[in-house]
Amino acid sequence: MTASLAPPDVLPLLRGRFGRPYRFVAECTSTQDLVREEGLPEGAVAVADHQTAGRGRAGRAWTDAPGRALLVSVLLRPPRAPELAQLSLVAGHATAEAIAELTGLATHVKWPNDVLLDGSKVAGILLESAGDAVITGIGVNVSQSGDELPPGTSPPAGSLLTATGRHLDRAALVAELLARLEHAYERWRDAGLAPLLPALEERNWLRGRQVVAHGAPGVAGAMAPDGALVVDLDRGGTLLAVSGEVTLAPES
Ligand code: BTN
Repeated sequence: MTASLAPPDVLPLLRGRFGRPYRFVAECTSTQDLVREEGLPEGAVAVADHQTAGRGRAGRAWTDAPGRALLVSVLLRPPRAPELAQLSLVAGHATAEAIAELTGLATHVKWPNDVLLDGSKVAGILLESAGDAVITGIGVNVSQSGDELPPGTSPPAGSLLTATGRHLDRAALVAELLARLEHAYERWRDAGLAPLLPALEERNWLRGRQVVAHGAPGVAGAMAPDGALVVDLDRGGTLLAVSGEVTLAPES
C-alpha cells in the first residue's frame, strides 16, 4: 500500500476548489457512482483504494490492485452542453501533466486520453454524462508490479512503479491531478481548446504512426482545432476522428 488517500493526508495538499467535498472509501463498485448525488458542486471528488467493478472505455473493465492505484472521479458541470470529446482531451492533458510533474519523466497522450510513459499506458480516462454534468473518471496505475497489470493490451499496461522504479505518493498525485484538472478545465471553459492545443500536440503519441481509424488504415497526423485527430487514409483522403477508437495498426 502506498501513501494513504484518506482525507487527513489529502485535504492539506489541495490547492483549489476541486476536491471539495472529498470522499474516500476503501472499496466500492466504481467511484463513478459516488459523485452522482444531486446537489453536489462542481469539483466534488470520490476516491477509492479498490473498485470491484471498475469501468473502462468502450465497455471494458478497469482493474486495479488494492491500494496501489489512484482511482478518482470528479464531477464537472460544464456551462455548455457536455462536449465529451473535448473534455476528454482536457482531462488527458491534465493527467499527463500531473504524472510528468511527479515522475520527472516525459508523458505522452494516445489520442484521445490514454496517458503513456515510455510507450506503456499508465492512466486511462472515462467520461460519463449524468444529465448536464460530466463525471470524469481517472485511473492511474501507481504501484502495481508488472504481474499485477493486465496482460496483452495494446499499448501495453505499465505503472509509475514499472516506469520509474519508485513508489510514488498517491496523495501528492491526486492533489497535483486535481489542481491541473481544475486549471485546464477552466481554461477550456473560458477559451475553448485553443490554449491547450500546443501542449496537447507536443504529447500527441499517435502522430506519424500507422493506425486504424473507424475501420480504415492510415497514418495519424496532428489534431484539428476542435480536437479531432486527422488521419491520412492509405486509400487516399483524410478522416477526422472525433470519437471512438483509433487503434494502432497491427505490426505486419
Ligand atoms: C480506460 O482507459 O478504459 C478508462 C479507465 C478509467 C478508469 C477510472 S478509475 C476511476 C473511475 N472509476 C471507474 O470505474 N472508471 C474510472
